[in-house]
Amino acid sequence: MRARFWLSVAAVLVAGGGLAAADSVIRKWKPVTADELHDPQNPAVPRLQNPAEALSVLPPANAGNQVDWVKALRDGKIQPRTHIDSNTPLRILDSEVIMTRTGDMPYVRFPHRAHTEWLDCSNCHDALFASKIGATPITMLAILQGEYCGRCHGAVSFPLTECARCHNTPKAAAGAVPRRAP
Ligand code: HEC
Ligand code: HEC
Ligand code: HEC
Repeated sequence: MRARFWLSVAAVLVAGGGLAAADSVIRKWKPVTADELHDPQNPAVPRLQNPAEALSVLPPANAGNQVDWVKALRDGKIQPRTHIDSNTPLRILDSEVIMTRTGDMPYVRFPHRAHTEWLDCSNCHDALFASKIGATPITMLAILQGEYCGRCHGAVSFPLTECARCHNTPKAAAGAVPRRAP
């Protein structure tokens, strides 16, 4: 029952154009004076850089603010500070976890590298996730309610409508990476 519900959610999203190739998408951003976030009466607002100018030079993505931030960082298009104190080193971890409690959907390959290039271990461990494979009872419903991965995805990182960016690993192709129990 539950799996069928999710499959129909996915079908609606796909029908809505969710699978269009990122390259073929024409990207548009509202100017700061019309984004309904800034006060257009404020004389300082027109002096801000517009998102179209800042973001159009970065690699495209289908959703969210239409930038593939992981690629932007890897390609050296942006060089964010590691910390407010610029001498703080990054702690990069290169391991992955295959998450197998995905019903009829492909498995989720969770990459530590792509996260630790932006975040510190303490952003996730151990308040959001125990540092032990399979110990945290993650579900899609909880994620959609803003827990676990949903603390960031849909808020500051790519949105939850991008099913395939997380459900990215066909079950047959999961390989020998450590995995959560089914
Ligand atoms: C930010 C990453 C992420 C995105 C985006 C995402 N999922 Fe998930 N999903 C997960 C994780 C993590 C699990 C739990 C895996 C585990 O516990 O082993 C999960 C579990 C599931 C399950 C298993 C049943 C359940 O309720 O937990 C289904 C079905 C599912 N997702 C469907 C979807 C669909 C459909 C979409 C798009 C609308 C989607 N997911 C988007 C990460 C994601
Ligand atoms: C974006 C969130 C996030 C960040 C940041 C993060 N982790 Fe994790 N970590 C996870 C998730 C999710 C799992 C899988 C948990 C599960 O299977 O229940 C995990 C699993 C682990 C595990 C157990 C699996 C294994 O490979 O042995 C260890 C150890 C671990 N993390 C250490 C770290 C360290 C050290 C850092 C910083 C360098 C870090 N993590 C940063 C989310 C994160
Ligand atoms: C503390 C915040 C945070 C949490 C929690 C978090 N993520 Fe992310 N995630 C990010 C950020 C930031 C990025 C990079 C920016 C972006 O792609 O939007 C990212 C990127 C990713 C990517 C893209 C990797 C690539 O190579 O393009 C995947 C896949 C992903 N996350 C899956 C997950 C899954 C699955 C979970 C839960 C198990 C999770 N994330 C939890 C912040 C988070």
